[in-house]
Amino acid sequence: MKKILVTGGSGFIGSHTCLLLLEEGHEIFVIDSHINSSPKSLERLSTIIEAENIFLNGKLHIYKGDLRDNKILKKIFLDANKNGGSIDAVLHFAGLKSVSESFNSPMLYWDANVNSTINLLKVMEANNCKTIIFSSSANIYNSKTPQLTTENSEINPVNPYGRTKAVIERILTDIFESASDTWRIANLRYFNPIGAHPSGFIGEDPQGVPSNLFPFITQVAAGRRKELTIFGNNWPTKDGTGVRDYIHVMDLAEGHLRALKYLLDSKPRLLNLNLGTGKGTSVLELIETFEKVNKVSIPYSFVNRRKGDLPITIASNELCKTCLNWTPQRTLEDMCRDGWKWQLQNPKGYFNSNENF
Ligand code: WQD
Repeated sequence: MKKILVTGGSGFIGSHTCLLLLEEGHEIFVIDSHINSSPKSLERLSTIIEAENIFLNGKLHIYKGDLRDNKILKKIFLDANKNGGSIDAVLHFAGLKSVSESFNSPMLYWDANVNSTINLLKVMEANNCKTIIFSSSANIYNSKTPQLTTENSEINPVNPYGRTKAVIERILTDIFESASDTWRIANLRYFNPIGAHPSGFIGEDPQGVPSNLFPFITQVAAGRRKELTIFGNNWPTKDGTGVRDYIHVMDLAEGHLRALKYLLDSKPRLLNLNLGTGKGTSVLELIETFEKVNKVSIPYSFVNRRKGDLPITIASNELCKTCLNWTPQRTLEDMCRDGWKWQLQNPKGYFNSNENF
């Protein structure tokens, strides 16, 4: 089993991946600033794990901190060396991810996403840790066509958030090319992760008003929001609403473990992989599926298009299928069922906020 540093491990994708890492017996060191996540997600992991009769035996180490703080990063690597061994690989989830926020606060995004990563890579190199899986995004593409987006599609992000992801990939490529006989790097380009662990104990819990569609739908269904506003009904798509490639967060987490195993078992390389299902779903289709599966009603109205949105984004996932021998297993119905169970069991998410809704 390995020692894995997980940055942003309290977040939506990070917490679901940490669960699978612990279930597989790895020792994990989680660093998270909780700027956009709750520490409660990791507390819930222990509940799930113990319910599965898996005993943590000190394999979950949690550090509250920011990747721009050298001291805490160095401490983590020192702690990992204490009882023999060292950090074998890093899963780098930490980052800000709201497209709309990145338009309003670009410097916040460049600092939080790019400077954090540069500092992390420096500390990794100083500790001779040269295996990293980076949480990249479909936002680096500029897909204006209904064709499937492949890893060789044009990289030309249309928002600051996507630009930070593309620049980090560029930095990782430069590092790899400077020492291609030592670094193992995977850029995992997520399409649209939604849903939750089937237990309903962990899930997506955006702070404030959700900028993403699925958590907004679950909050409308839970009565936290009055209605959903749909950004545009005149897109060049099947029903005029935006089409996306939604992937179950558990499939995404499993994809990370496959990528980790692949990197650790392979000679040094750099890998770019789309993590999606290859299926497109419109906003109206997602609403309809959610209502049917969960027997709820989602009131909505149409408004103007949102700045930075694209009409259609669907992954070609052929490369991850062949390279990782991995295919997403869960359906859109599973995503809707699991996501709703999380929201029902956690009407206010992890935070017991006094938010009036
Ligand atoms: C999906 C569709 C909207 C909200 C995000 C971000 C980023 C990324 C995941 C990792 C679009 C429509 C949305 C609403 C709506 N994560 N919509 N009303 O735009 O693909 O981007 O993807 O990189 O978080 O880039 O996802 O969920 O915001 O939007 O009509 O209140 O739903 O127009 O067509 P998107 P999204």
